[in-house]
Amino acid sequence: MAADPQGRSADMMRSHRAGDLRADDIGESVVVCGWVASRRDHGGKVFLDVRDVAGVVQAVVDPQVAGLEVAHRLRHEWVVRVVGDVCARPDGTVNDELPTGAVEVLAREIEVLSEAEPPPFPLDDRVDIDEVLRLRHRYLDLRRAPMQRNLRLRAAVNRVMREAMAEQDFVEIETPMLIASTPEGARDFVVPSRLRPGEFYALPQSPQLFKQLLMVGGFDRYFQIARCLRDEDLRADRQFEFMQLDVEMTFADQEDVLDAVSVAVLAAAEVARPGVRLGSIPRMTWHEAIERYGCDKPDLRFGMELVELTEVFGQTDFRAFAGADAVKGIRVGGEAEMTRSRLDALTERAKSLGAAGLVWMRVRDGGVLESPVAKFLSESEQLALVDVLGLVGGDLVLIVAGKRTMVRDVLGTLRLDLGRPPVSEGGLRFLWVVDFPLFEETDDAGGGPAPMHHPFTMPHPDDIDRLESDPLSVRAQAYDLVLNGWELGSGSVRIHRSDVQQRIFSLLGFDAEDARRRFGFLLDAFRFGAPPHAGFAVGVDRFVAVLAGEENIREVIAFPKTQSGVDLMTNAPTPIDAAQLRDLGLRLLDPKP
Ligand code: AMO
Repeated sequence: MAADPQGRSADMMRSHRAGDLRADDIGESVVVCGWVASRRDHGGKVFLDVRDVAGVVQAVVDPQVAGLEVAHRLRHEWVVRVVGDVCARPDGTVNDELPTGAVEVLAREIEVLSEAEPPPFPLDDRVDIDEVLRLRHRYLDLRRAPMQRNLRLRAAVNRVMREAMAEQDFVEIETPMLIASTPEGARDFVVPSRLRPGEFYALPQSPQLFKQLLMVGGFDRYFQIARCLRDEDLRADRQFEFMQLDVEMTFADQEDVLDAVSVAVLAAAEVARPGVRLGSIPRMTWHEAIERYGCDKPDLRFGMELVELTEVFGQTDFRAFAGADAVKGIRVGGEAEMTRSRLDALTERAKSLGAAGLVWMRVRDGGVLESPVAKFLSESEQLALVDVLGLVGGDLVLIVAGKRTMVRDVLGTLRLDLGRPPVSEGGLRFLWVVDFPLFEETDDAGGGPAPMHHPFTMPHPDDIDRLESDPLSVRAQAYDLVLNGWELGSGSVRIHRSDVQQRIFSLLGFDAEDARRRFGFLLDAFRFGAPPHAGFAVGVDRFVAVLAGEENIREVIAFPKTQSGVDLMTNAPTPIDAAQLRDLGLRLLDPKP
């Protein structure tokens, strides 16, 4: 084949990426490869859009020229190699929308590298493609621009976080996948051992115990972008497999961890949103978050805060509010004209969440309240309500009374239902939520407290005396990172003293033997000089989803599972054959026919 004027040989696989060609390249002889994104056959000429990773360029082919007749046969998604010359597009045909729109490649040779069947869905930007089809043919879905964008963003976020951790002297260390169980509160995925029939490895729910052991091992600062596996119900923000930026630090307290993690996540966010400077991440205590927003991961992109009204109605004669543990309300700006049927639906929603009812009031000009229950409220109560909630004409007020935990839950949920913007809107609002409770109540038969984070979390030093007498009032040195209402990550200062650990295990109902069996290796390690340590883990999938403006983490994972845990492309999980079962020493209780 002829050498081009620059001395480049036309027999190279490619000389340029199709999407990179610009007016500067006019006059160059090039070789581009890619997929046929579209083909317009005008008889005399065939116009091809050749798509590669960098974009799309138009190739013009004269099928009358010997060797170029193939242009008539080309179809969508065939893979081609085009040798040709970059020319300026004729006047009137320049496409300003396209980065390559000033040029076209006049083809001298076309080689078909692969033929393709018609794709089962169009490979463009549209969002309404059936997800089942997308997941079944994920390799085709990945050719689409939104998936290319999301996975490249993901790679950039990982790279920036990795660099930020390395710059802060964190050492990247890999921890094993075949382990004994880690207590993160979900079910384990287990792997049968062939060499020890009847015994199983657990796949890590997180590297939690190993990273603590690395601190005992003297590594001082560890991080890993770690794969974690949890057998839990899947949701928009949950997959069986997910990635964490996992971090642990020795001789460090909460402040040190918050600082180190802030550096990494802010650097990644600023790469995802060029030009945006985020400053430092604000903080709120768990208690404040739950009282003001009704949840421990407040979405700060909008207001509509829960306002305390218990005192306003302290002496009320209105039966629904009198003597209530708590009364709280939210002001929904500009919604005074909400239809009765929507209000009824909100009331039903509140009831389904445990409320006895929902009081609503329309605010008219001058602060006049209009509501079926207004007549039961005294004038001073109505005035106080207007004052405390800052009501103006056109507002709608929603009030719930009853047990404090229920009131917070119900109004917190209604607030999100009514006010939450789509994930792609409203900027990035990070928040540290600190001072989580150490335990939460469980409904389990045995009752008793369960760890809010995990059983290795250090109690708050000011509360440790109440561990046994009033465990539910004890704060933990535990903290979460929240972004736009998503729980992005969690961490804590760890217990490094065996006496404190023993007290926690006793409270959780583990007897000494139980604790030894499950975490003996950790307790043993702690006998040999355990430094104080603290850590954190950021959920990478969630982080990238928010940065990409996606509501579901599947959109930022190359090969995700469906809601029911199936990989539609490989069909996993699949049965295994009898020989494999035998090798593993397993017999199925209810074998599939
Ligand atoms: P935690 O269990 O809170 O803490 O997990 C930390 C973060 O991991 C992400 N995450 C998930 N992402 C997708 N799918 C899932 N199923 C899933 N589960 C969790 C979330 C979550 O905030 N070892 C502790 C951390 C520590 O204490 O250092 C841990 O794993 O973003």
